[in-house]
Amino acid sequence: MSTRRVTVTECPGGPLLIRGADEVVGIDGTVAPVERAVVALCRCGRSDRLPWCDDSHRDRRRRKKP
Ligand code: FES
Repeated sequence: MSTRRVTVTECPGGPLLIRGADEVVGIDGTVAPVERAVVALCRCGRSDRLPWCDDSHRDRRRRKKP
């Protein structure tokens, strides 16, 4: 059994940054292979590329401003 360090970093108002993972498993069991050293997981649900962040959360923040 190998030990591998995976870290999760919260970006305020944005995604979770995942470092060191091989795959991400959704709540429905869907497995998304991770092919980069760092990936961004959507937390806002607005991404067109779920589970990955596509920066759509930035549009939401802009609309909130007067
Ligand atoms: S957190 Fe970036 S698109 Fe959802």
